[in-house]
Amino acid sequence: MNQLFKRKPINGTIAEDGEGEHHSLNKVLTVKDLTFFGIAAIIGGGIFSAIGNACFTGGPGVIFLYMICAVACGFTALCYAEFASRVPVSGSAYTYAYVSFGEIFAWIIGWALIMEYSIGNIYIAFSWSGYFTNLLETFGVHLPEWLTINYKSAHAAFLENKPGEGLDAWKNAPMIGNLKMIFDMPALLINTLITYLVYRGTKESKNFSNAMVWIKIAVIVLVIVVGALYVDIDNWTPFLPNGFGGVMAGVSAVFYAYIGFDAVSTLAEEAKDPQKDLPKGMIYSLVICTVVYIALALVLTGMVPYKLLGVTDPLAEIFALKGVKWMLFIVSISAVVAMTSVLLVFQMGQPRIWMAMSRDGLMPPKLAEIHPKYKTPAFATILTGLVVGLPIFFTDENLVLDFTSIGTLFAFVLVCGGVLLLSPQSKEEIAERKGKFQIPYINAKFIFPIIIASIMLLVNFVYPNALPDVFREPLKNIPLIVFFIVCSVMWVLAFIKNYSLIPLLGLISCCYLLTGMSVQNWTWFGIWLVLGLIFYFIYGKKHSKLNKNNFK
Ligand code: ALA
Repeated sequence: MNQLFKRKPINGTIAEDGEGEHHSLNKVLTVKDLTFFGIAAIIGGGIFSAIGNACFTGGPGVIFLYMICAVACGFTALCYAEFASRVPVSGSAYTYAYVSFGEIFAWIIGWALIMEYSIGNIYIAFSWSGYFTNLLETFGVHLPEWLTINYKSAHAAFLENKPGEGLDAWKNAPMIGNLKMIFDMPALLINTLITYLVYRGTKESKNFSNAMVWIKIAVIVLVIVVGALYVDIDNWTPFLPNGFGGVMAGVSAVFYAYIGFDAVSTLAEEAKDPQKDLPKGMIYSLVICTVVYIALALVLTGMVPYKLLGVTDPLAEIFALKGVKWMLFIVSISAVVAMTSVLLVFQMGQPRIWMAMSRDGLMPPKLAEIHPKYKTPAFATILTGLVVGLPIFFTDENLVLDFTSIGTLFAFVLVCGGVLLLSPQSKEEIAERKGKFQIPYINAKFIFPIIIASIMLLVNFVYPNALPDVFREPLKNIPLIVFFIVCSVMWVLAFIKNYSLIPLLGLISCCYLLTGMSVQNWTWFGIWLVLGLIFYFIYGKKHSKLNKNNFK
């Protein structure tokens, strides 16, 4: 078979990767730890920052969007869970693509996941820095602007002559030769600290992460309870001030808030019983976060008119508007804690994906080296620190945010597609996997078109302007007609091949969210993928162990 489409055997994957000649990782994580890791990864910038704009565009009805994204992520989580129970090794979607689609797709997914893990962490490091600087201010500590903003933003502020932090930084920055010294020092510091922690060991990171999650949940529950006292139900009318279109405008921001449950699957080799515990960890964390998000969105839009929420720090803003100063301080601290735990989880995930790719020969062997004392992928961890840290000098937060979402959705589509392609198991195999997680099989043949048609009709009748123009501006957005074509093709395939409904719905819902990305983002993402392919053909293809028939 052509090497590009050669699949890695599942049994070979487990035997080769879990044990063998490599130093194995510490198996210390339980269901509770995995659920905590999920929550640690999910609740972060999305809920402390992006929720503001989503409420602003959608009004109180934004809770529908939280429900829709939860459903899309829920289907995808079930697919991740199915894979995690079949292929319980590190590597997440990368490994899953290897066993279901073949080497080239695995490579593409591994390359795309750098967007989610490393590029996503650049965004969080910037956001962390913003909240941390605010917190320092409350203690009367003021850092000079040129140490708290990135060069690109300061330069943009100078070009636009826009008063504020950026322009101040540009004016006051010291010079080295002709270069202005402007960089986000707190973002760099937190990245260094987290890299060190992850390098030192999973157990230490786990304890730190668990403690942070408790603080984070406690504070968010406090925000909901205290906020509920200030809710004025008149603020919930009108519920959909900008129609369903306004709600859907916040798709990227809301989806971003859910990213993270999948990171749990990168910890497969450190879980005590991965085939049972990984699925539970993912699904429990997703359910808990969904409940929290919906409650929080209701409280936010109930406390103040939705038009006041279009800010980057909405949780602080609502208490500032209501004059509840003590909550302002608590929210700032918890935002810093939440960001830290998100950083930690993603910074742990990236080296483990590279480790899996390196073991397969697709990346240099150095990336698979495990530290003899700390039992962590040491070199890959340091490299992650550099990949996150260096761009902090020359990029800004907006650029990296969209890439994170597009890379993640791309991975989700392939994971759901991968489950569709997994060969049906024999009776013996099903019996052998008894007690492990399996997606219930429902034939999609007739139900899938009924579900899609019902949703379209319902949405169109209840909210006549809900569906955006199917031919919407093709130069800026992906026309929605493309989505309908994908639906039709998938239905035909489902009819012929008796596809399973749940992964099909996961795939379609993620495809829908992908149509929300701009053509410009798609272009940059395409360039990134081409770079990855060049790397694959120069290095990975030649060194692939699968090619050398090492997986028996
Ligand atoms: N869901 C994560 C966050 O909101 C990425 O920060």
